[in-house]
Amino acid sequence: MNIPPVKICFPEQEITKLKSAFEQILKSGILTSGKYVDEFEKNFANYMGIKYAIAVNSGTSAIEIPLRIYGIENKNVIVPTNTFFATPAAVIHAGGKVKFADADPQTFCISKESIEKNIDKDTIGVIVVHIGGVIPPYINEIKEICEENGLFLFEDCAHSHGSKLNGDMAGTFGDASSFSFFPTKLMTSGEGGMIVSNDLNIDKRARVFRNQGMSWEVGNINVEMGYNWRISEFHAAIGLSQLKFLDEFIEQRRRIAKIYDSRLKKVNGLEPLKLNKNLRHGYYKYIVKLDPEIDRDYIKKELKENYGVSLSGEVYDRPCHLQPVFHFLGYREGDFPVSESICKQHICLPIYPYMEEWEANYVVDSLREVI
Ligand SMILES: Cc1ncc(COP(=O)(O)O)c(C=O)c1O
Repeated sequence: MNIPPVKICFPEQEITKLKSAFEQILKSGILTSGKYVDEFEKNFANYMGIKYAIAVNSGTSAIEIPLRIYGIENKNVIVPTNTFFATPAAVIHAGGKVKFADADPQTFCISKESIEKNIDKDTIGVIVVHIGGVIPPYINEIKEICEENGLFLFEDCAHSHGSKLNGDMAGTFGDASSFSFFPTKLMTSGEGGMIVSNDLNIDKRARVFRNQGMSWEVGNINVEMGYNWRISEFHAAIGLSQLKFLDEFIEQRRRIAKIYDSRLKKVNGLEPLKLNKNLRHGYYKYIVKLDPEIDRDYIKKELKENYGVSLSGEVYDRPCHLQPVFHFLGYREGDFPVSESICKQHICLPIYPYMEEWEANYVVDSLREVI
């Protein structure tokens, strides 16, 4: 038995189409920033129902570029500590100061209370990360807090392509948002990212930033402290192909999640996240909370060695404020108790498009036996 934690999915007919797209790109001589990038941006904006989408080379640069546009130098940006390195790192690379905030124990996302506690006269914005694909049900309250305090709201949607709350897509609540197309994500372009916004200023300036800060409008002049954040035509062609299947991939993941939901109710010691009924969860991760007395390392080892079930990594097993690289920010263990405890006490079950029902049942049966 071999149940992997994730599986990248390229429908067979798409591989044939991609081969011909690659041939076309090679013959055209336009290998970067061409018609595939344009089309990827257009289709992604349409999918999101948003005005502007700007494709870049990673989910990390899709965070950093808008932050540079907001001009965060020496200002405080409130960031969840329960996130990936890239979120706070982008703030630091853009010249801002990271103020970590704690998580909400129900959603694993940044908590409203912790945002409010962190706002001071130097705060310029807030970043929300929709952990595992969960849009926090209080996102509109966070939006109001930001509006009342004159702060930008940025959504890091690296986990939440296609997730919706009350019909609104992840990435449409904030002033600007970022997506990652790293291979483990809900859709991939190999490497790549997308900035989305309804703000024309973000659209115009992000295009300048991603291209070494050069403005074509006034000739080859460097007007911003940009970088090479461009995406190639090959990556865009892969992203375009995957985007067509995003909703199908999500429905496939939701089918497996439904099996886990119903069967895990009867397993002691485990508790799937309680989700808002108006959330269309894309299930980048299927998160299960563990009772504190359960030894996660033991469970993972047993499942792999004796049952052939590999759990994916945790969403995060260590909050960012405890990562050695961020020690200089002065945080200590105990500063964010909710994040510290949820990082220690959850697992993520295998979930991917076209996973078989019996595989999901086998995962639950194995888990129950190990526990
Ligand atoms: C929450 C979050 N933000 C940003 C990123 C960075 O994306 P990329 O690897 O495409 O740069 C990731 C990647 O895993 C992520 O999980």
